[in-house]
Amino acid sequence: MTILITGGAGFIGSNFILNWLENKKEGIVNFDKLTYAGNLENLECIVENPNYFFEKGDICDTSLLRDLMIKYSPTSVIHFAAESHVDRSIEYSDSFIQTNIMGTYSLLETSKDYWNSLEESKKKKFRFLHISTDEVYGSLNSQQEPFNEDYPFKPNSPYSATKAASDHLVRSWHKTYELPAITINCSNNYGPYQFPEKLIPLTILNALAGKPIHIFGDGKHVRDWIYVKDHCIAIKSVLEDGRIGQVYNIGGKSELENLQVAILICKILDELSPKIDGLSYQDQIIFITDRKGHDRRYAIDISKIKNELGWEPLETFETGIRKTVQWYLNNPKWVENVQSKEYQKWIDKKYGSN
Ligand code: NAD
Ligand code: DAU
Repeated sequence: MTILITGGAGFIGSNFILNWLENKKEGIVNFDKLTYAGNLENLECIVENPNYFFEKGDICDTSLLRDLMIKYSPTSVIHFAAESHVDRSIEYSDSFIQTNIMGTYSLLETSKDYWNSLEESKKKKFRFLHISTDEVYGSLNSQQEPFNEDYPFKPNSPYSATKAASDHLVRSWHKTYELPAITINCSNNYGPYQFPEKLIPLTILNALAGKPIHIFGDGKHVRDWIYVKDHCIAIKSVLEDGRIGQVYNIGGKSELENLQVAILICKILDELSPKIDGLSYQDQIIFITDRKGHDRRYAIDISKIKNELGWEPLETFETGIRKTVQWYLNNPKWVENVQSKEYQKWIDKKYGSN
């Protein structure tokens, strides 16, 4: 019994694998292209685990995917692989179109053919779980109700547009070919192993390096933050008990403005790793030009998954962010290795190389 996941060397995928192997006897195959965001160091502690298998490759490579299905006979597929960073999608969108749309198409086709080839009992149990984002719903103002599963799609960035396209493909492969697919739309994840281009790890590491902490625009953009382990638990619950053809929205019940997030991180760092000069890390916060097309607010209505599957996040933002800051403090080697040439090129291009 083995499941196949794509993008398992990324942030959420690697947390999912670690969590899975801690709690399950089933094997897990990690299929990943190892782009700049894929980091096998995240999974170093399980390389010897007999239930873990790694295969390098691109989800756009249909024939490789077909070979994998034959080799491992997966009981389900969970699709994490994507180009995931909004700012990068604004600079260049080709790889987002390629991986998020064409790659999802190729995975759907191979999964459908594989699923059709299964004997009836295995066919019945098989699931195609698609990991997507709340960004497909667009932006809310401060008065609007949180996104529920019926909220119309209004993606605003090249990233969210490609994820919305992938969600539509998944829906249609279910409706047309009856592929037993389920989609999850989740809010902003944070926690261990997140690549430091996203707000939370970037803020922690810039603070510790004595660099400016950049806040886009007025800093009042709101995100709903979920600790990554809570998302992983939700994914497992949907895989086991979610209804085929359904969409489940997942969130952390923690709406915060970006400036509030940065200030809280600085306060925790002031306590856990105080600066020698006695000043606060908050002094490093600066406001910079806003992101193009920047969504003002995301908020998630989690009542469907709560009512149907009894899932709710276990961490509050205060408990989760403290664990996260502590994790980055405890893992300087991981940080050093991840801040490689490729990473530095992107940061230098965006913010200058001082
Ligand atoms: P990530 O960028 O950290 O990791 C993406 C992984 O996919 C990397 O390991 C990368 O090597 C791999 N990958 C990229 N292109 C590939 C290809 N063509 N073939 C095979 N592998 C490829 O992303 P993440 O933050 O872990 O997000 C995982 C998924 O969850 C994505 O689909 C993303 O849209 C979704 N999501 C993320 C968040 C978040 O806050 N991070 C929130 C909601 C949904
Ligand atoms: O909502 C789910 C999405 O969350 C996922 O689908 C994406 O894959 C993930 O990257 C994330 O998207 P965001 O654009 O919301 O995340 P990011 O960490 O890039 O930015 C969070 C907020 O902080 C956003 O309003 C932009 C702002 N920001 C970001 C960075 C990197 C800053 O103010 N300064 C920064 O330096």
